Amino acid sequence: MKITAQQLRTKYQEFFKSKGHTIIPSASLVPENDPSALFVNSGMFPLVPYLLGQEHPGGARLANVQKCIRTGDIEEVGDNTHLTFFEMLGNWSLGDYFKEDAIKWSFEFLTSKEWLNLPVERLAITCFGGDSDAPRDDESAKIWMSLGVPQHRISFLPKEKNWWIAGNSGPCGPDTEMHYWIDDGSPAPKTYDVDEPRWVEIWNDVFMQYEKKADGSLVPLEKQNVDTGMGLDRVLAILNGQKSVYDTELFKGMWEVLALDQEILSNDEIRKARIVLDHIRAAVFMAGDGVEPSNKDRGYVLRRVLRRALVMGRLLNLKHHWLDALIGQVAATYASAYPDLVARSENIFAVILAEQKRFEATLEKGLKQFEARIQNTESGMLTGKDAFDLYQTYGFPWELTHELAAQAGSTIEKSEFESEFKKHQELSRTASSGQFKGGLASHSDKIVRLHTATHLMNAALRKVLGEEVWQKGSNITEERTRFDFTHNKKMTPEEIAEVELLVNTWIARDLKVKKEILSLEEARKLNAIGVFGEKYSDTVSVYTISDNKTGEIISREFCGGPHVERTGIIGTFKIQKEEASSAGVRRIKACIV
Ligand code: ALA
Repeated sequence: MKITAQQLRTKYQEFFKSKGHTIIPSASLVPENDPSALFVNSGMFPLVPYLLGQEHPGGARLANVQKCIRTGDIEEVGDNTHLTFFEMLGNWSLGDYFKEDAIKWSFEFLTSKEWLNLPVERLAITCFGGDSDAPRDDESAKIWMSLGVPQHRISFLPKEKNWWIAGNSGPCGPDTEMHYWIDDGSPAPKTYDVDEPRWVEIWNDVFMQYEKKADGSLVPLEKQNVDTGMGLDRVLAILNGQKSVYDTELFKGMWEVLALDQEILSNDEIRKARIVLDHIRAAVFMAGDGVEPSNKDRGYVLRRVLRRALVMGRLLNLKHHWLDALIGQVAATYASAYPDLVARSENIFAVILAEQKRFEATLEKGLKQFEARIQNTESGMLTGKDAFDLYQTYGFPWELTHELAAQAGSTIEKSEFESEFKKHQELSRTASSGQFKGGLASHSDKIVRLHTATHLMNAALRKVLGEEVWQKGSNITEERTRFDFTHNKKMTPEEIAEVELLVNTWIARDLKVKKEILSLEEARKLNAIGVFGEKYSDTVSVYTISDNKTGEIISREFCGGPHVERTGIIGTFKIQKEEASSAGVRRIKACIV
């Protein structure tokens, strides 16, 4: 059956309308009042309160097409079926119908001539196999068999596969999944095989009858609900006889923008190009829902997909201005289904292109360093440590170093890069737990004063610029403190003046600096900042700078010290310089005069 994406959306909604469902709109990708996930990852996510018992204005039968983002499978993006952004077709029963109708309707929609007309011979079903929480779902298996699915095509799988929950807690339950055999060259095997990628999961019916509490316990819900989800891109590819979701009409215009001849691309190049298409599509939808690139949470996900796509674009030598054209193409492809994308396109362009500009500047710096290093090595070979230095100091991505090094004749193993990465993590943990014997272990009075001033500055930066400021590194000499922190724009002169003023006010108040040895747990409870989770010791020293009179806590960091006892002896604090350090990281040099 040849079908367009819009026809499939409409068909699905028509079908469930005919079964008494109210069609509800897609929610934003940004969860409303629910901090448990960064993005809406399924149709049920915005419906959690209703699945827990609240009444929905649309009634007890709902259906929709929901925009979703999933980053859990990001490494698999670029194969035939994985995507970070996708649309989910879903139907829900809020305490109304249950297994019998849900399964019957899934089967009817997939296989009846009037609807999708998919051959039963290519379908396989999985059901929940049972454990100490809930019994094996024989009931669902029986319903599938009564509809004509042979027993050998029904498998029972454990909780990791056939149980759905949107995060760590909330409504959940066993599910039954429909898989389709996508290989045209061979008939579907007799039984389903979880490791066989030609069996593609297309739809999942979840029987939500429990609530998982924060303590991990399962409590039966008052009502039995149904939550289903079918991947639009996957079903569209199958109906049109395409092997991959990247071959559907949804990506057609985008491929044209890339102007690559797929016939002559290597498998690796095809994967890279698919990553570009997937990530830019996801980025456009995220920006369309108001997300902006940053160094944390949602903003970080957007930054990561965008930058990864930009690296891939560079490796593929895409032509000038491909990104602008691609953004426009995504908006055009989805204009009728998501008119907001067009309405907000000016903002989407601005957000994405600004990030491109920032990243290109980082890349240029990194490229220069890369070339300097290649020329400076006698052998002309780069090592994993070089790759890590380029990444750490210049934000230069591993993929690019690897590829450019290969072009210059040196191979760097990813494991070498990763082991440098681990070494660095361990070093910074040791340093922050005070066991690092370099640097501060040999200290002069001046260094000690600068050290306490650095804690005050860290607190002042977080006050002036926001709590997302996070220390990335520091280095103190007799002359100055150098402090790197996460922040994605240049500080204004007013902000710098405000930080200086705050630090000097705290110095003038002659605050007490107290050292305590605490367990990690206690330090965590006190909201001390620093790198937790280090494995060297169970206790850490925590320095608290506070005003005894008011009880106000100015700074609490865990750190090896040493520090002054009272801030009054520090002297006058002055910021000498504020500059970019690497992407999203600023550097301050400050001294005591
Ligand atoms: N919430 C279920 C899923 O996403 C339907 O698979």
